[in-house]
Amino acid sequence: MGPYQAIQVSEHVYWVGAIDWRVRDFHGYSTERGSTYNAYLITGSEPILVDTVKRPFVGEMLARIGSVIDPQKIRVLLSNHSEMDHSGSLPAVIERSQPERLLASPMGVKTLAEHFELPLSPEAVPVGERLTIGDRTLFFAEARMLHWPESMFSYLVDDRLFFSQDAFGMHLSSFERFCDELSEQVIWHEAAKYYANILLPYSPMVAKAVAALPKTEIGEAELIAPDHGPIWRRDVWRIAERYAEWAVQRPTRKAVIVYDTMWESTAKMAYAIAEGLQQGGARPRLVHLTTSNRSVLATEILDAGALIVGSPTINNQLFPTLADGLSYLKGLRPKNLIGAAFGSYGWSGESPRLIESALREMKVDLVSEAQRVKYVPRARDLEACAALGVRIAEKLGEITEEEA
Ligand code: FEO
Repeated sequence: MGPYQAIQVSEHVYWVGAIDWRVRDFHGYSTERGSTYNAYLITGSEPILVDTVKRPFVGEMLARIGSVIDPQKIRVLLSNHSEMDHSGSLPAVIERSQPERLLASPMGVKTLAEHFELPLSPEAVPVGERLTIGDRTLFFAEARMLHWPESMFSYLVDDRLFFSQDAFGMHLSSFERFCDELSEQVIWHEAAKYYANILLPYSPMVAKAVAALPKTEIGEAELIAPDHGPIWRRDVWRIAERYAEWAVQRPTRKAVIVYDTMWESTAKMAYAIAEGLQQGGARPRLVHLTTSNRSVLATEILDAGALIVGSPTINNQLFPTLADGLSYLKGLRPKNLIGAAFGSYGWSGESPRLIESALREMKVDLVSEAQRVKYVPRARDLEACAALGVRIAEKLGEITEEEA
C-alpha cells in the first residue's frame, strides 16, 4: 500500500486531491493552516475525474487515484474551474490517462484554451441540464463570478453530491476530510476568511446563485464537496445560509481600526479611538498591518459596521502597508460601512486626506473630519480620538437599531 490513499466520500466518489501542508501565501491571502486542492474520482463504467490539483502535486493525486483504479482508466475529465490550482495538472493527466473527453462550462472551454495548449479539445456541458456519462448522471449549473466568469457547479445525481468548486471551500490542510471531524470554531473562521478574501466582491452574484440552488436538483444534495478544505456532510446547507448572510453584509457594532505606525504616535491614536468605541458600546478590533496580513483585515471587515483607518505620512504618502491594505480592501468591495481617518505627521501630513479619498471611493460613509496630530499626540489629542470613537459607536448604535 502506497502512502497516498483515496478517501471514499460517497458510494461512487473518492477524494483524490492533495494536501498542501506548507502554503502560507495564496496569491496574497495568508493561509496559516495550509490548504488542500481537492480532486474527486467518480467511479463507474466511464470513470470521471472532477477537477485536478496544483501542478507540483500531480504525483500525489495520481497515487491517490491509483489506490482505487489505474489512472489510465479515467475516461472523462470534468473542469469546474480553470484557475491553475485546479487545472494545473490537466496536461499531465491527459498525457498519463489519455481520456476521451474534457468537459467544462461554455466559458470554461474558452478559458482552458487560453491557459493551455491541450491535445484534447474541451467540450461544453449542457448547463441547466443532465448529462449521462456511462452509468452515472450529472447535472450542471452556472456559477458565474463564484469566483471566475467560467466557474460552474456540478452535481452527481446518483450520490446526491454537489461539487461546488471554490464556493463553500476554505484553506485548511488536515487529514480530516469532513467538516464534522473538525472544530466548529476553526471551520467557520476559515470559511468566513475564504468568503471575505475570495467571494466578497461578487456578493450580489453569490446571493443570486445561493437562492437559485434549491430551485434546481442540486437543492437535494446530501454532500457538498468544494475544491479546498473539508467536505460538508452534516446539515450541509448551513454553509449556503452563511453565504447568503455574508453576501448582505448587514452592519454590526463591530468597528475595525486598521493602522500602522512609525514612532508610535498613530498607534496611540488608534488605542484611544478603540477606548472610545468600547466606552460607546461598540466592539473595537485593531488590525496592525505590519504584523497582520491584509487578508486578516478583510476577514475582520466581513461582519463589521465601521472601518477606521490610520496612517502616518511618509514622503507625502500613506505608510506602504496602508496603501497595500486599502488597495486590497477596495478590490473586495465591502459595503454598508461608516468610517473615519486619522494619523500623525511631521510636516506635510497628507495621509488622512488620502485615506478619506480612498474611503469615499469605497462608499464608506465618513462620520467625522479626519483626526490629525503633529508628531506626538498630547492628552487633548487623545481625548479627541476617544471622542471620535464614542461618536462612531453612537452612530453604529443608531444604524444597528434601524436594521433590527
Ligand atoms: Fe481555488 Fe479559484 O481557485
